[in-house]
Amino acid sequence: MCGIVGYAGTAPANGTSTAAGHQALDVLMEGLRRLEYRGYDSAGVAVVANGEIAMRKKAGKLANLTAELAASPLPDSMTGIGHTRWATHGGPTDKNAHPHVVDDGRLAVIHNGIIENYAPLKAELVYQGHTFISDTDTEVAAVLLGEIYRSLPADESADGARLTRAMQLASQRLEGAFTLLAAHAAHPGTVVASRRNSPLVVGLGDGENFLGSDVSGFIDYTRRAVELGQDQVVTITAATVAITDFRGEPAEGREYLVDWDAAAAEKDGFPSFMEKEIHDQPEAVAQTLLGRSDIDGKLTLDEMRIDADVLKTVNKIIVLACGTSAYAGQVAKYAIEHWCRIPTEVELSHEFRYRDPIVDDKTLIVSLSQSGETMDTLMAVRYAREQGAKTVAICNTNGSTIPRESDAVLYTHAGPEIAVASTKAFLAQITAAYLLGLYLAQLRGNLFQGQIKDVLADLAKVPAKIAQVLENDQQIKDLARSMADTSSVLFLGRHVGFPVAMEGALKLKELAYIHAEGFAAGELKHGPIALIEEGQPVIVVVPSPRGRDSLHSKVVSNIQEVRARGAKTIVIAEEGDESVRAHAEHVFYIPETTTLLAPLLATVPLQIFACELAMAKGYDVDQPRNLAKSVTVE
Ligand code: M6R
Repeated sequence: MCGIVGYAGTAPANGTSTAAGHQALDVLMEGLRRLEYRGYDSAGVAVVANGEIAMRKKAGKLANLTAELAASPLPDSMTGIGHTRWATHGGPTDKNAHPHVVDDGRLAVIHNGIIENYAPLKAELVYQGHTFISDTDTEVAAVLLGEIYRSLPADESADGARLTRAMQLASQRLEGAFTLLAAHAAHPGTVVASRRNSPLVVGLGDGENFLGSDVSGFIDYTRRAVELGQDQVVTITAATVAITDFRGEPAEGREYLVDWDAAAAEKDGFPSFMEKEIHDQPEAVAQTLLGRSDIDGKLTLDEMRIDADVLKTVNKIIVLACGTSAYAGQVAKYAIEHWCRIPTEVELSHEFRYRDPIVDDKTLIVSLSQSGETMDTLMAVRYAREQGAKTVAICNTNGSTIPRESDAVLYTHAGPEIAVASTKAFLAQITAAYLLGLYLAQLRGNLFQGQIKDVLADLAKVPAKIAQVLENDQQIKDLARSMADTSSVLFLGRHVGFPVAMEGALKLKELAYIHAEGFAAGELKHGPIALIEEGQPVIVVVPSPRGRDSLHSKVVSNIQEVRARGAKTIVIAEEGDESVRAHAEHVFYIPETTTLLAPLLATVPLQIFACELAMAKGYDVDQPRNLAKSVTVE
């Protein structure tokens, strides 16, 4: 939630560009363009120029700010901060947009997160005579920072020691989750930032340095990044990056090289990131499999930093995740229990912590998160660690908080996922979770090496099969376009098809704003069948007839049950499964694979369906309403 970018470049040599070649505003706007997926309720920028703060902000998408800047340009500058907002406290208005400028217009502040103690702080500041313009918690942090700044001895040094000290002291007083960035008119070459429970990454340039909520905020300029620890303050100038803790003690971050570049974060000729990312899926699965097993199928997960002996004693696995990632976890549960014989629960992260869960040192927590920043999952992982559990993160974002705070990490190599609705990360998460399951089975001796090798061989064939589904997408697209007026769609599945059905329903809700529900097909007769009336579309994920026969025939019976009551049945089935034809208005075939691997194929037509239907309705599939890509507040 909320995208944040900061920039400190070298002083302009000729008045039009910095020595490093960049105007602060260009860097900020490019960063915001790439970070807009994190929130698009409003956007704003502030630069330090001519001993003053110059600021523009506007409610709505970034395009509104761009128009505002064209109408009312900002002066040249080498220093600035920018923000794209997902509203929490205060509606999405101009007034509540960031930056918030205080200290007689000399201090600009932007924020991501929630300041939980903003109410008592605000009361204290009001008592001291401060007034507030916005309804945000951010303005409280800004006023507090300004108040502390003014109370410190004057210091006009270029490295902004006074602003840094003020940020350290202000951060000590704030509770909750925050990334704060501040620029002050008195310190033209400096941006100071602070983070607690909220993401912030430093970008290292040549004669310029950057700050971003994630690396896409500066990927056009550098791939060298530094991840910050919890409760740290960082001060950047064009030449320096200084990190401390909140008390002012020097601290260090971990430098790393981002393994993708700006081109990977572009649309690649597709009209939307969503369509591009759906088409990235063969590569996402292939990359996630790459280099993780030898010729004999022996798995080596080198990011696995938990002792083999500890893993052998695990007697329970709890998968923690939210949204699409939780559905990936539900798919993985079937495989992990089948291969490892370890009881596996899947729990929504935000529910887990509040039910007094039974967790101990024999529990293995597997968190699934594309962003690695989902606050609900981060808090659940922290809680589990405190109870003594070992934690493995399956994550798509190098350097993000959840893997950093976990005992081990298995990165999905899906590449940057920009569209707010998750697609390629889902398939990559299932793939990575399967690798983890196979690794545990190998370690604990639940499967023979040959069996593991066979599963890996089947997995290796999946990317080409996904590509096949993508090549034959016209039929599902045509159907989606013909259903643009539909008001409700039900999805049914059994076994691994059940979470696939729920994921199909979530995609349709998110993208096309259509009421959609995913049900376990067997649950239908326990209530949901009452929803079926003449013409109700029902999409059914049918398992392979080559798998356990009872499963296939039970689902075929479920199709018949809803059809008998007037449903319009749309079926995803395996190539060659003629038995479903008689019961379906539309059949979409996916290539043959094993039952456990079928979700990697069956999900794809459902993604295409939701995306195409949303586009037929004229919706923005990359930035659906009310959503943000990384949910960094609880
Ligand atoms: O970054 P994460 O995987 O932790 O995000 C979890 C969910 O917020 C995310 O999957 C969300 O449900 C997406 N909008 C789904 O498309």
